[in-house]
Amino acid sequence: MIVPASAETIDRAARLLREGQLVSFPTETVYGLGADARNAAAVRRIFAAKKRPADHPLIVHIADASVLPRWARSIPPGARALADAFWPGPLTLILPRARDVGDIVTGGQDCVGLRVPGHPVAQALLAQFASLGGEGIAAPSANRFGRISATTAQHVANDFGEEIALILDGGPCRHGIESTIVAFTDGEASLLRPGALSVAELSRVLGRPLSPAALGSPRAPGTLATHYAPQTPARLIPSPELAAALAELAHPGAHIVVLAHSVAQPPDFEGTWFDAPAHDTAYAQQLYASLRALDALAADEIWIEAPPDGPEWHAVRDRLRRATERD
Ligand code: TXA
Ligand code: MG
Repeated sequence: MIVPASAETIDRAARLLREGQLVSFPTETVYGLGADARNAAAVRRIFAAKKRPADHPLIVHIADASVLPRWARSIPPGARALADAFWPGPLTLILPRARDVGDIVTGGQDCVGLRVPGHPVAQALLAQFASLGGEGIAAPSANRFGRISATTAQHVANDFGEEIALILDGGPCRHGIESTIVAFTDGEASLLRPGALSVAELSRVLGRPLSPAALGSPRAPGTLATHYAPQTPARLIPSPELAAALAELAHPGAHIVVLAHSVAQPPDFEGTWFDAPAHDTAYAQQLYASLRALDALAADEIWIEAPPDGPEWHAVRDRLRRATERD
């Protein structure tokens, strides 16, 4: 059930979480599907609802950095600096886990993902949850496994219907793309997933360039080749080739839908055309809503104009590559 977020519904959500129920809530990145991170039975319900493989770890959302030692057994100086600079905000830190952190949350790995979200509803929910004795809310993005993340309460309801006790509606997410994940498993920072917080900002605080994580360590399923994917086959097409591809549409019967940020719709194009924002942050903010809307048209193919090469498009390029990767 979708309810507008208010002091009353946030309190109800915190109580439901403490009772072991699932609650979806807005964050500044995407909507999360939350469960009490200390309640293994509740966390298992997330995996069942998402149809997510059991060895995929979850991010634990905490109210503020003061509770980090409850979850992480060591906090390298670089991690501390990033937490100080960017929390609350769209940054997830992967740290060596404290001894009593359950395997169900970490996927059996020796590290745990932690984030202090900045959205006022998420903050209020975490504060209320803490006042009821809760320590952290485990929450993946509120979408079916491998599919497109949810950036509105309605997206969550479309994916899960009545399976979730409560969906707190806090409006559309501001960033629209997931948090940036930085791992500190050997003391040094490495980038596990590009996201709403740019690598340039992270590098500035770390005082050196951030390197991408070595493949396979630690495992981060959001880095699987196919993820964030529509059900309609989707292709990424470089801008200079898009117009030619449209002109050459060999079989006029095919229903093609297009997401373009710089190429204009040809006058004779008969499919559905979505104009995406030309600016990176606005593009990211609308990306998942656009992909969901395009997917709902059940076309033969989705053609997406490839985003520009600049570093500010890093996370968008990453998501679109995975959305268009074939198994
Ligand atoms: O913005 C976000 O991060 C959103 C909001 C709801 O906070 N959450 C999110 O969760 O994107 P999810 O589960 O869809 O993606 C989290 C990623 C996964 O790829 C997971 O593998 C990785 O974080 N992850 C979580 N804990 C980890 C750990 N202990 N070690 C390695 N990767 C981890
Ligand atoms: Mg996800």
